[in-house]
Amino acid sequence: MKLVSLILLLCQLTLGAHQARAGIRHTYLTWQADPSSSISINVQTLHQPGQPPPQITVVYDTVLAAAPSAYRWASAATNVDPIDALPGRTVHSVVLHDLLPGQRYHYRVLSSQDAASRVYHFRTIHDEPKPLRFIAGGDMGIDENAQRLQAVAAAQNPQFALIGGDLAYANGDWSQTRVWDRWFDIWDSLMVTPSGNQIPIVAAIGNHEVRGGYAGNVQDAGPYLRFLPQSPTPYYERSIGPHMGLIVLDSGHLTPHAGVQTDWLRRALEGHSDRPLCLVAYHVPLFPGFRLPSGAMPSAGREFWQPLFEQYNITAALEHHDHIFKRTVLIRGDEETEDGILYLGDGAFGRPTKPVEGPRQVHLGRRWYLHKLESRGHFWRVDVDAAGASATFTALDEEGIEFDQVTRLAR
Ligand SMILES: [Fe+2]
Repeated sequence: MKLVSLILLLCQLTLGAHQARAGIRHTYLTWQADPSSSISINVQTLHQPGQPPPQITVVYDTVLAAAPSAYRWASAATNVDPIDALPGRTVHSVVLHDLLPGQRYHYRVLSSQDAASRVYHFRTIHDEPKPLRFIAGGDMGIDENAQRLQAVAAAQNPQFALIGGDLAYANGDWSQTRVWDRWFDIWDSLMVTPSGNQIPIVAAIGNHEVRGGYAGNVQDAGPYLRFLPQSPTPYYERSIGPHMGLIVLDSGHLTPHAGVQTDWLRRALEGHSDRPLCLVAYHVPLFPGFRLPSGAMPSAGREFWQPLFEQYNITAALEHHDHIFKRTVLIRGDEETEDGILYLGDGAFGRPTKPVEGPRQVHLGRRWYLHKLESRGHFWRVDVDAAGASATFTALDEEGIEFDQVTRLAR
C-alpha cells in the first residue's frame, strides 16, 4: 500500500512538473536598461496556436517569500512578442526598474495558464566602488565543449556573461529553433553562479545569428533579435558599475561598420570618456588570429573603428569569430607601441578550435600583431578592481586552468 501511495505521489509530482513546464519554456535574463537598477526577465511561452498567449507576471522581492502571494512586488510583462513564424510561441519581457544596486533578488514567474515557476535569483550590478567580475567569450554552440566551458565559467561567480556572437548556430533560421531551445536549456542549467544566481546575457551579434551572415536585415536575424531583447539596434552601450563603460558593436552582420554605426560609436566613446575603463566587444576581429586580416570585415573595422579606439584609448577590444586563443601586442595604427590598444580573442567558447600550424596557416608566422596564439578552447574572466584602477583579463580553458593573464591600467 505504501508503495502504491509512493507511485501515485511520484505520478502527481511528475504531472505537476510537466504542467509547470508546458506553458513556460524558457526564463533567462538580459538588460535593456541600467544594469544597476533594472533587469529584463525574458519568458518564452508555448500555447495552443490560434489562442491568445498566457499573461505573464513576475513577483519579486529582496527576501525569499514562502508563497507567490507573499512577494512584495509584482510586474506584468512590459513587452509581449508573439512569434508569427513559430505559432504558439511568445516572448514576454518583464523589465523591472527601480531596483536596488548590488542587491540580490528572488523572483517567480506566474502564468495565467500555468503553475508558478520555481524560485529564481539574480543580482543587480553595484553602483559604488566594489570589485566587478564577468566572463567573456563567443562562438559557443551546444556541444560538450561548450557545456564544459560554461560550467567552468559559471563557477567563477561572474556578474554577467558577455557573449561576442555566434551563440546557438541557428543562422537566423526559425526552422532551427530547436537549436536555440537546446542552447537556452543548457544556459538555464549551467549558467548559474555557485550561490544560485542566474547569469544575465549581454550579447553581440555574430554571423551565425543572421541568414547569410553579413549585410542582412532585421528579418534575417529574427530569432536572435526577438529571443534576446537588449536594444533597438544591434549595437548598444552600457555603464557597468561606477568605473566601466561597455560598448557592443555589430561587425557588419546587420549594420555596416562605416556611417551611422561609426558616428554612434564616436558618441558612445565620448559618453564614456570620463570612466577609467572602457571595453568594446564585437564578433569579427580587426586583428584575426586565424582568418586573413585582409578580409572585408577586419579591414572595415581597422579603417573605421580602430582610429576611434585609439583616440579614446579604450582598455581592450574583445574579438571573436576565429575559434582560436589570441592575445595581440599593444597596437596603434599598424605598429606595436607601448601606448597601444590590446585585442583579446578569438571566440572559442565551445566550437572546435582552429589549428595554429598547418599548410593553410603558414601565413600566421608573419602576423606582427600576434603576441600569443594557441589552439585552445577558452573564455576570458575579466576582473575590475574596486577603485577602477585596472582590469585583469584571465584566460581559462575547459579544465579551469588559467593559462594566460594580462592587466590593463585605467586610462
Ligand atoms: Fe563567426
